[in-house]
Amino acid sequence: MHARVVFGVVCGLFTVALGACSGGGDEAPPAPPPPTFHADVEPLMQRRCQSCHHAAGEGDDTAAGLGPFSLVGYESARRYASSVVAQTSARSMPPFGARKTDECAPRLPYMDDVTLTDAEISMLRRWLDAGAPEGDASQAPAPISLRSTTGLSRITQTLAPPKPYEVKASGKDEFRCFVLDPGFEEDAWISGVDVVPQNSVVTHHVVVYVDEKRESLDRVGGKVGDSYPCFGGPDLEDTNLLAAWAPGARAMDYGDKAAVKVKKGSLIVSQVHYHPRSDASESDQTSLQLNRLAGQPEWQAIVALIGNADSAKGLVKLLPGADDPGEPAFSIPAGARGHVEEMTFTFTPDILPTFVDLRLSSVGTHMHWVGRDMKISLERAEPEPEADRPATECLVQTPAWDFNWQRGYRYDAPFEELPVIRTGDTLRMRCTYDNTMDNPFVRRALSDLHLTSPQDVKLGETTLDEMCLGAFIFLLKP
Ligand code: HEC
Repeated sequence: MHARVVFGVVCGLFTVALGACSGGGDEAPPAPPPPTFHADVEPLMQRRCQSCHHAAGEGDDTAAGLGPFSLVGYESARRYASSVVAQTSARSMPPFGARKTDECAPRLPYMDDVTLTDAEISMLRRWLDAGAPEGDASQAPAPISLRSTTGLSRITQTLAPPKPYEVKASGKDEFRCFVLDPGFEEDAWISGVDVVPQNSVVTHHVVVYVDEKRESLDRVGGKVGDSYPCFGGPDLEDTNLLAAWAPGARAMDYGDKAAVKVKKGSLIVSQVHYHPRSDASESDQTSLQLNRLAGQPEWQAIVALIGNADSAKGLVKLLPGADDPGEPAFSIPAGARGHVEEMTFTFTPDILPTFVDLRLSSVGTHMHWVGRDMKISLERAEPEPEADRPATECLVQTPAWDFNWQRGYRYDAPFEELPVIRTGDTLRMRCTYDNTMDNPFVRRALSDLHLTSPQDVKLGETTLDEMCLGAFIFLLKP
């Protein structure tokens, strides 16, 4: 079992210490002037918030952004100022799940890291405390482009279902798999995939799979372009991951440097996670843009999902847990808090021959609703710390997991500096779960199923099953 993907985030409660120096000394230095909207807040919102928080017609985007309200312009920013401070102080906005923690300090920065600095968060709070002043409009930054997708360096092909899909009003999550045929008559090198949601109100995230054996065709009665329901994953025997998109994530785009090899004749299955509105139906026709290289690139990209072990045997090994009755078992009892499942995957010589120079380019975490925290690290058989190959390297941690904000985290570094993986090295996935009514995601999942108390949870595909899965993009010389 394996196979879903996508990427995460969170909300730790984190209070910014404010220099609220009250009382005492008569010689307090003069307070600096408070931040203003145009000089301080607006540039930050442009950079970090407005791609999602804009109304239809604002900037150069005809559609509204994904956020529930606009943060373009002084009036709307002032109206939401206290909520903005609450969400940014809690680090739940802007959404970016990877965090530096006491036990995880990744060696390399991530691309498109939108995390606010402590100084930015405290600036927003000082602005609110000063009454959210507008300041001088002449200091306003120039308007920016507000499109939420960033576009590929080159587009060779666009795939889309032939007609829009109706997302019926219900308020409940819906997962649809659309079967698309790129018509590759030769093996293809795909270096970029951009998912372009047509309706950002209801499209929550998208995972793109390659179906080499064209198994998905049966699911749609042989009709390419049609779709079938698919919680978790496309529910096919044998699929590879091609790409994934979540709000705020950029396209997978390796330019002409690296590409995924897609076998000729493969179908593409695009799994779209919809958040239907409760009051009205919407329609959506999410498309995929591809960049297919003419020849072979310098690096081959391999997208892999590793995890979801439910025993100590097999390629991915489940480690013994505190409350396992006998053999290690993936089992999260109802009411368990801080329950840990941990598993390892070792690159044996038959999986990774010693002569292959394998690097890790991108890593993401995936669980369902009971998950709270996931950490992935790399343990080296023969460390060389002086060559940036420490014995243990934390690759990513998403300590306030949020199913709704999943993404991959790509390292912002040249190939030569990416984490090296050699024969004998081990990936370790650690997932922590909260299967109590204190977990808001558990409450929501249970209420969707008309249940009132937590249930025992096992490894699996459906809403109340769980996963512990890492999503990796490796690079190697083809
Ligand atoms: C990637 C898209 C995205 C970005 C970037 C983003 N938001 Fe949001 N924001 C959302 C969505 C979607 C929601 C609705 C709640 C949810 O799904 O998490 C939201 C909700 C909010 C809320 C209301 C939360 C509540 O439940 O009351 C606030 C306040 C907020 N965002 C502020 C910000 C600020 C400030 C920034 C920039 C520093 C920002 N957001 C950046 C998408 C985004």
